[in-house]
Amino acid sequence: MTPIPNLKQEAARAALAHVEDGMKLGIGTGSTAEEFVRLLAQRVEAGLRVTGVSTSERTEALCRALGVPTSSLDETPALDLTVDGADEIGPGLALIKGGGGALLREKIVAHASARMIVIADASKVVETLGAFPLPIEVNRFGLSATRRAVERAAGQLALSGVVTLRGGDSQPFVTDGGHLILDASFGRIPDPERTHAMLCAVPGVVETGLFIGLCHLAMVASPVGIKVMSR
Ligand code: A5P
Repeated sequence: MTPIPNLKQEAARAALAHVEDGMKLGIGTGSTAEEFVRLLAQRVEAGLRVTGVSTSERTEALCRALGVPTSSLDETPALDLTVDGADEIGPGLALIKGGGGALLREKIVAHASARMIVIADASKVVETLGAFPLPIEVNRFGLSATRRAVERAAGQLALSGVVTLRGGDSQPFVTDGGHLILDASFGRIPDPERTHAMLCAVPGVVETGLFIGLCHLAMVASPVGIKVMSR
């Protein structure tokens, strides 16, 4: 029987080919990024020298457990490359990220990197972003007012759909930065730039999961192999 390929691992392997000795690496969050950390750890054990900057406490813990050297972004503020997963990959390599709740640190780390490579299986590639609910990181203070303002902004963008608090009111999901996440089920986001700008203009919104102009390459794995997508 032909083994079923581990597509996340194949995408991670393709990104690893871009990692060079001595690099300062942003390291993403999520199940695909974890495949990358596992492969990276094997290379480190074999002698590769890298300094990793993690995008979440979860990734940091995995790096430490597997012996990947890490640093903080304050100690290492300029990175050569970030490798991370995505929830959706749209035209121009615009992304939706934050399904794992790490969008703010992921965006700060990607922005501090000369290049970003996204790793994913082919199910993440879409013609229009938005089928995946858009994560919006918000301050805890004034949550109800912020949510209403987000809904108003969505209305001005002609976007409809429910905006829910991740985890629910009684036990909301809390990010590594101590914020909350609103998931906006817009269905389609035809204008990601304007959507990001209008949502960020709402006081209380810390960041959106729309990553625009940050990703340089995507390694997309399918059963027939790796497709490299560029802007
Ligand atoms: C984490 O906050 C996200 O941005 C992840 O990168 C994204 O959810 C992809 O995760 P998977 O690789 O687990 O699908």
